Formats: sequence, structure tokens, C-alpha cells
Amino acid sequence: MMCIFLSSLLVIVCTLTTVTCDVEWTTPARSEWSFECPNGRSLKLLQSARDVANNDRLWTFGCGGNDSKITNVTCEWSAYANDFGQTFNYQCPNDGVITGMASYYAGTDRRYQFLCCFPTGYIAHACVFTPNINALGEFMNYRRPDYWYIRGYSSSESLYHQQFGMYDRMFTLNICKLDKLVPSKC
Ligand SMILES: *[C@@H]1O[C@H](CO)[C@@H](O)[C@H](O)[C@H]1NC(C)=O
Ligand SMILES: *[C@@H]1O[C@H](CO)[C@@H](O)[C@H](O)[C@H]1NC(C)=O
Repeated sequence: MMCIFLSSLLVIVCTLTTVTCDVEWTTPARSEWSFECPNGRSLKLLQSARDVANNDRLWTFGCGGNDSKITNVTCEWSAYANDFGQTFNYQCPNDGVITGMASYYAGTDRRYQFLCCFPTGYIAHACVFTPNINALGEFMNYRRPDYWYIRGYSSSESLYHQQFGMYDRMFTLNICKLDKLVPSKC
């Protein structure tokens, strides 16, 4: 079990050397954590792997570059988007975009909260749902495209290893563009 976990970490570490996000942080197992991008930056890199020994999923986050659309704007943490074992579909309200994530663990699952920042004078549009960004028990290595924003997460938990009673979550993102609201001329 431990060997599987260590090799998972190694793959994450190797993958990280190829990305250019300069804020990176990996979550501790089985504990409560909170990650926030600095003012003016939004979540860009999402990597995670199952920690088999701890029956948890560990995350590594990275942020995009300075972005005037979300610099010095109002930001607010959501309530918990899910209960343990529950499916959720969380979208930032209004034209908010996600700049942080927090979570705590109990049993086999985590509850998640999201930090939304609200740009003024911009609308979130052209939103699309990504395919699942991980499979049960597998690595996640997602980097949102430049000039897009993560606005929502959907997720459901399933039993993926009957014999060991292991549960895991699959995640899907809603990503959007932000553009200036142009008043109609008619
Ligand atoms: C981003 O903004 C921060 C704070 O304003 C500044 O310290 C940093 O140098 C900027 N980074 C880049 C790459 O412009
Ligand atoms: C953001 O706020 C800080 C602190 O008030 C200020 O120094 C900085 O110039 C502001 N940045 C922008 C882009 O408005």
C-alpha cells in the first residue's frame, strides 16, 4: 500500500516540474485544509492522487498569473457544497469565479467549500462543462486554458474498490470566459 502511495507522489512531483504556475501547495492527508490564490489570481492547476494508505485524495493547487479582472474585488467562501457521500454541483453565484478551495475529512470522504471572487463590470459566459477530470482511484492533472475561469465543480462519490471498501470522487468543472458587459446601443 505504502509503495503505491509513494509512487503516486513521485508522479505528482515530476509532473509539477513541467508547469509554470508559481503558487503550488499540496494538501495534508485526512485533515482540514484551505487553499487561496493570492489577490488577482484564480485557480489554474488541479492535480490530485489517491492516498491509498489514508483512504483520502491529496490535492496540489496552482494559480494563474495576475489578472486585473479579479484584482481587488470582493471574494466570499461558499457554505459546504456537499455532505459526506453526497453528489454536488456547485456554481459560484452571479459572475463569480473560483480562486480557492477548502475541505475537511471524515470516514472515507471530504466536504468541500469554494472561494468565489466577483469581478465588477464583467459577465461570465460561454460556460462549458469539462469531461470528468479524473477517474475513480486515478490521477487528476487538469490545467484550465488561459483566459478561462473555473466557475463550478460537480462531483459524486462511488465505491471503486469493493474488496477494500475504498470510496473516491470524480470531478467535473464548469469553466467560463469573463468579458466586459457592453450595453446594447438600441
Ligand atoms: C503580481 O502582482 C503581485 C502583487 O501586486 C506582484 O508582487 C507580482 O510581482 C506580480 N507578478 C507578476 C508576474 O507580474
Ligand atoms: C489593489 O489594492 C492595493 C491596496 O489597496 C493597491 O495598492 C493596488 O494598487 C490595487 N491594485 C489595483 C490593480 O487596483
